[in-house]
Amino acid sequence: MRAIVVHRFGATPELADVPVPEAGPGEVQVALDAAGVNPFDLKMADGLLQGKMPTDFPMILGVDGAGSVSAIGSGVTKFEVGDRVVGKFLTAPAGHGSWAQYSTVPEDATLVPIPDGVTSVAAAALPIAGVTAQDLVDAAHIQPDQTVLIVGATGGVGSFLVQLANIAGAHVIATARGDAADQVARLGAAETVDYTRIRPADPNFPDPDPATRQDSSVTDAVRFTHPDGIDVLFDLISAAADFASHATLVRRGGHAYSTTWAADETALRERDITGGNFESKGRSPELSRLLSRVAAGDVVIPVQMTVPLEAAPAVLGQGSARGKTVLTI
Ligand SMILES: NC(=O)c1ccc[n+]([C@@H]2O[C@H](COP(=O)([O-])OP(=O)(O)OC[C@H]3O[C@@H](n4cnc5c(N)ncnc54)[C@H](OP(=O)(O)O)[C@@H]3O)[C@@H](O)[C@H]2O)c1
Repeated sequence: MRAIVVHRFGATPELADVPVPEAGPGEVQVALDAAGVNPFDLKMADGLLQGKMPTDFPMILGVDGAGSVSAIGSGVTKFEVGDRVVGKFLTAPAGHGSWAQYSTVPEDATLVPIPDGVTSVAAAALPIAGVTAQDLVDAAHIQPDQTVLIVGATGGVGSFLVQLANIAGAHVIATARGDAADQVARLGAAETVDYTRIRPADPNFPDPDPATRQDSSVTDAVRFTHPDGIDVLFDLISAAADFASHATLVRRGGHAYSTTWAADETALRERDITGGNFESKGRSPELSRLLSRVAAGDVVIPVQMTVPLEAAPAVLGQGSARGKTVLTI
């Protein structure tokens, strides 16, 4: 079968012909129609899980995948051949991912039925990014009318997070540069901040010097419009210094989360702020909940681009995401 693989950590991903995996006891074999692309895929190819999880080589990349059950192993009770399913194709040993014509997972992994009316391409965009957004909103217990700042709002996680925070009743401030402001506004952001060029409506606002312009100006811009601070920070992109700067906006008793391990949790606790470095559990119940919302039309799937499996190496780590990239298989 066709698959996108690396032969060692750090190698360039390439198309390869590899054996079709068989469904072992308790496992489901899925014929994949579509697979999502996430920053995690490149990190994994570069060795993020080295020493943490055994890995088989050639390592088939990809975590998010959607398709239909093509075989079941002995003892499988939750799925039948022909079921349309979506899930996360990452269990130990790693290296048997979703960027392939077939993959296998234990039936108890994150794997759920796709509701009628939701395409495989749409479903494949959800598992990592959508469920992370859902987990973040659940963790912060957002209340109606709370002010929520999302830094990195235009990418995969952010495009879902803007929608889910808006549905929870929050006043959403989203970072977005250039034309991406329209996109996040359509998804539910009440305000946008261009992190590359702060252009507030108030003429008294100090225009940042292009020579020194940097991400910390997001803090200045938000403090200018919200001098009493914000309730929740979701920072999906910043390193430690910028996260610390953004976190100064959060009121005592508020919440601040980093998905990039940038939070100094001790410093947050000293200011009575909960949250910190966030790891999505990414489980089936949240994925099913999100799929129901998609099927009901409450959440849209922000697919930026759909490309064939063979194009995966070209789109991997491309940056400047506007929603999700999905591979068709
Ligand atoms: N901890 C967890 O459980 C977990 C789960 C999922 C994802 N993650 C991590 O969370 C991060 C985001 O994931 P993702 O899937 O949303 O990534 P993504 O799809 O690549 O999106 C990142 C977005 O951030 C924007 N951006 C870049 N620099 C920025 C800056 N300085 N300020 C504001 N926006 C900026 C990018 O657009 P422009 O460059 O055009 O502005 C892009 O739209 C990744 O590092 C990922 O690995 C962690």
